[in-house]
Amino acid sequence: MDGKAFRADFPIFEIEKSMYLDNAATSQKPKCVLEAEYGFYEKMNANPLRGFYPLSVEATKAYEDAREKVRGFINAASVKEIIFTRNTTESINLIAYSYGLNNLCRNDEIVVSITEHHSNLLPWRMVADRTGAKIKYLYPNKEGEFDPAAIDEAITERTKIAAMGQVSNVLGSLNPIDHLIKRVHEVGGVAVIDAAQSAPHMAIDVKKMNPDFLAFSGHKMFGPMGIGVLYGRKELLEAMPPFMEGGEMVDIVRFDYTKYSELPHKFEAGTVNAGGAVGLSAAIDYINKVGFDTMNEIEESLTKRAFEAMKNIPHLHILGGDSAEKHHGIISFTLDDVHPHDVSAILEADGIDVRAGHHCAGPLLEFLGVNSATRLSLMFYNTEEEIDAFTKSVASIRERMGFND
Ligand code: ALA
Repeated sequence: MDGKAFRADFPIFEIEKSMYLDNAATSQKPKCVLEAEYGFYEKMNANPLRGFYPLSVEATKAYEDAREKVRGFINAASVKEIIFTRNTTESINLIAYSYGLNNLCRNDEIVVSITEHHSNLLPWRMVADRTGAKIKYLYPNKEGEFDPAAIDEAITERTKIAAMGQVSNVLGSLNPIDHLIKRVHEVGGVAVIDAAQSAPHMAIDVKKMNPDFLAFSGHKMFGPMGIGVLYGRKELLEAMPPFMEGGEMVDIVRFDYTKYSELPHKFEAGTVNAGGAVGLSAAIDYINKVGFDTMNEIEESLTKRAFEAMKNIPHLHILGGDSAEKHHGIISFTLDDVHPHDVSAILEADGIDVRAGHHCAGPLLEFLGVNSATRLSLMFYNTEEEIDAFTKSVASIRERMGFND
């Protein structure tokens, strides 16, 4: 089972013939998303939220309709809880600068898992450095799994923030965020969930999940680059100061007085990325049309096909879970004696695109005892032929490098 039937939705596959297996870095964009963003600039380009003339009103409507689409996508209670940002990194920095720096002090604790992408780690280190708070790391086992009891123990009365990704961008593991959220709420802290790798693959319901903040990027879920989302609980966002000051995030500015705008605009200083928001809205329509059930069925089948072949390749070591089900479309690996950059260069010579390196998750790789790894990451539009070409190419690498065992 694969995604051949959906390939025609993505114009890039007509032009670019390499096999794109780097979907955790960014997804490809369906034609409806490209047309929606183009259509915004073609038919309704004016600065939203500012003008009273029809074009600006139309641009404002398109932008705010996109916000409502995102609200529905994650089942938030109100559009006031949906802040448009550039990406997950900016969303988490917004929380760190606006909430973290203003609510934490010396000896408070921030609990963060060492499997995090740097964007859900470095902002917390910055908050700790500036406030005197302490970072406490949560360690998984070698399969990338967290023990709920260790989460209970790490989160104490001193914990003000607990941060975790829903799906690891290196291991593909699904983390116990429900447990973390429940536990941090018991001690009166807030939970920050990085959904960058999960939002493209699974339904998120913030009313059920109950995070305080949740961040994701448009570009990983078939939308444009440069548009991201921060979900935040209304009462928290209302109490937080703006992250950036400037145009359109204020209602009144006098010589000595400033009155900030209401949510969500208080956090959207400067001209917004309305074209990107409209593209993201089209991406959500596309996801709803295909459906996560169909996407997951294909992705699970392709992951299994890749995993079963990879585990039989001599000298290949898969990072994380010991079964395909634990990988959620992401399989990172090392190959004895061959640097991952060489692995990816040989794959590239065979027309296969993957990412190699530290995957912006330095502490996780340090914990696993590797400097770098090669990562296969799948999307529902990938095909069995691509998986087979990938595993055949990987299996040939050591011999092509001159090893004969
Ligand atoms: N966060 C993206 C990745 O994991 C860029 O590749």
